[in-house]
Amino acid sequence: MREAVVSSSQAPRPPAHIAIIMDGNGRWAKARGLPRVAGHQRGAEAARIAVRTCRELGVKFLTLYAFSSENWKRPASEVDDLMALLRYYLRREVSDLTEQDVRLRFIGSRERLAPDIISEIEHAEARTQHNSGLTLVVALNYGSHEEIVQAARSLAQDVANGVLKPSDIDENTFAERLSTSDIPDPDLLIRTSGEQRLSNFLLWQAAYSELVFLDTYWPDFSRENLETAIAEFHRRDRRFGTTNG
Ligand code: IPE
Ligand code: IPE
Ligand code: MG
Repeated sequence: MREAVVSSSQAPRPPAHIAIIMDGNGRWAKARGLPRVAGHQRGAEAARIAVRTCRELGVKFLTLYAFSSENWKRPASEVDDLMALLRYYLRREVSDLTEQDVRLRFIGSRERLAPDIISEIEHAEARTQHNSGLTLVVALNYGSHEEIVQAARSLAQDVANGVLKPSDIDENTFAERLSTSDIPDPDLLIRTSGEQRLSNFLLWQAAYSELVFLDTYWPDFSRENLETAIAEFHRRDRRFGTTNG
């Protein structure tokens, strides 16, 4: 296993769960006169850096938004490029992630995914299930609206079947039907590329996340950017609706 670089003993504990909207691949490529796929390729490298850094800093969960349920609206050639890249990474990275004691999890619908990608995902999840250093959650074909509707439908079905009363439904029973039921809510949510919106990402789970928006395009994302975002997180005063900071 690789050596973990532990931050100084005075450093505050890092956020337990960091979620990232990896945005700006296309603009990064455009600024260099390159095809968009070149931005996605470099973006995959940046994701690798983010995983390694989180692992070294002792972050327990990292969720990366890799493909939204709305990204199917892109030209078919770009969707194909993204899926090809994913396929390539799934085949190549799993051993390395295992070496880093990283557990892989996928959230999002599997419905439109190619059968070979689904089996790679299942293989990666199974192979890394006992790793405990960092859980890397990949949000793939993920959209919060769809996830929330699906949770509501499953509760409604239980009510229709007489196994649940409407009055049994509360925030906890609802959260248990989401794909993140066994994952804590993100403490810090980062979006790169200067955009300041959630784009259907973790709408339920990010209710109390600290939001940090960085101007950097995702392919340029570095360890320093992550440390900047974490430092900003530590300056925030999380009150969760109370008066004490
Ligand atoms: C993020 O970069 C990657 C995905 C959404 C898959 P974009 O492809 O959205 O890049 P921009 O926003 O067009 O620059
Ligand atoms: C959000 O980025 C999705 C991912 C990063 C995977 P988009 O680039 O698709 O979001 P919009 O279209 O700018 O809102
Ligand atoms: Mg974008």
